[in-house]
Amino acid sequence: MDREKLISKLNWFFNLELNQVDLYTSQSRHSRDPYVKIAFERIAYIEQQHVDNIADKIKELGGKPSKIGDVLAPILGGAAGTVISAAGLSNVLRANILIEKKAMKDYKALIHSLKRTYGDIELVRLLQNNLFDEDLHTAWFQRKLASIKNK
Ligand SMILES: [Fe+2]
Ligand SMILES: [Fe+2]
Repeated sequence: MDREKLISKLNWFFNLELNQVDLYTSQSRHSRDPYVKIAFERIAYIEQQHVDNIADKIKELGGKPSKIGDVLAPILGGAAGTVISAAGLSNVLRANILIEKKAMKDYKALIHSLKRTYGDIELVRLLQNNLFDEDLHTAWFQRKLASIKNK
């Protein structure tokens, strides 16, 4: 993968993470349950760290992090309207799980391709760290969804 292609891939993740910060922050504001409010806020805080660490890498590579707009709608498809909690917490959680799974799938693909070419470089480690955070988010969303269903 050449430098330009890598920068443009990282820029897509930069936008995904940025969209997630906005989304989870807004979900936190719209949630009534105080614990859910905290959960969304903490997850948004971690997504902001991903925004920042990816932006740093883009700059290190000589690129410029740039906004390309809404990358969530194509991931969510018909579920795009259900991302704030007016849609009910279980729908919100389902939408979030979809987004996190897409993030994980794409992080894994980029990690795999970078590892094959460059081995265990620092960027690979950073992407693996972000991937693990998404794994935790997915697990919490799934557990919360299961607990609502079982009530
Ligand atoms: Fe993230
Ligand atoms: Fe996440």
